[in-house]
Amino acid sequence: MFRKILACSDGSESALQAARVAAVIAREFHACTLLLTVFNPSTVIYANGDAPIAPIDSALLSRYIEEIQRDIEERTGEVFRAAGVDYVACRETGHPVDVIVDVAEREKVDLIVLGSRGLSGWKSFLLGSVSDGVLHHAHCPVLIVR
Ligand SMILES: Nc1ncnc2c1ncn2[C@@H]1O[C@H](COP(=O)(O)OP(=O)(O)OP(=O)(O)O)[C@@H](O)[C@H]1O
Ligand SMILES: [Mg+2]
Repeated sequence: MFRKILACSDGSESALQAARVAAVIAREFHACTLLLTVFNPSTVIYANGDAPIAPIDSALLSRYIEEIQRDIEERTGEVFRAAGVDYVACRETGHPVDVIVDVAEREKVDLIVLGSRGLSGWKSFLLGSVSDGVLHHAHCPVLIVR
């Protein structure tokens, strides 16, 4: 039933919990697993609002993005490695909802797995904007883990 699973992680505890569930499903269904981390460029804060005061060193920015994604990938990948589940890591840049939905379509996945909340974690809402957006726009089943 689930031959290909897309596990999405921002490195939050909720995403790690979702990865644990994704690993169980992947093992159960012998599914291929894609581990996706999306860097959202709009989280880079510019001192004067929407443009950098000084030109940003793009090499430095790339290294920063690379480090963040590698760290998330490493910590989330550990969940799959501990469960003995093979996975392919995938790093993208863009708006997380758009990217997750696009990758799911492009890769023809059968299931997207996310945490209910992420790094922001405002407790008054049940779902974060990424889990909510993916649930609304995905073409395939979505599992949101609480
Ligand atoms: N940048 C990302 N890359 C990959 N997966 C992500 C990303 N951001 C969120 N997710 C996935 O979506 C889940 C829910 O995170 P979400 O961002 O919706 O919640 P939040 O951070 O608490 O709220 P918000 O970002 O709306 O303020 C995470 O547990 C993770 O599985
Ligand atoms: Mg978030």
